[in-house]
Amino acid sequence: MKENNIRGGDAPIKVELEANKNYSWCSCGHGDQPFCNGTHRKEKATTPLTFQVEEAKEAWLCTCKLTKNPPYCDGSHNA
Ligand code: FES
Repeated sequence: MKENNIRGGDAPIKVELEANKNYSWCSCGHGDQPFCNGTHRKEKATTPLTFQVEEAKEAWLCTCKLTKNPPYCDGSHNA
């Protein structure tokens, strides 16, 4: 866990992602999960990860911030 980051949750959140849309996944754990709401600035924590998907899909996004495959849950929340 990077300095000033916290676990934002203990389980992933299921989301419906739209194709070719910019998403900002919260990497610091402080704001509403799983997307950035700007709280990292106040907390001096890490900035969000911006990502897109090529096709619309359902995805499980990490909230614990321990994933090795951000923004997606890789099961690390159980470690
Ligand atoms: S919620 Fe972070 S790895 Fe599953």
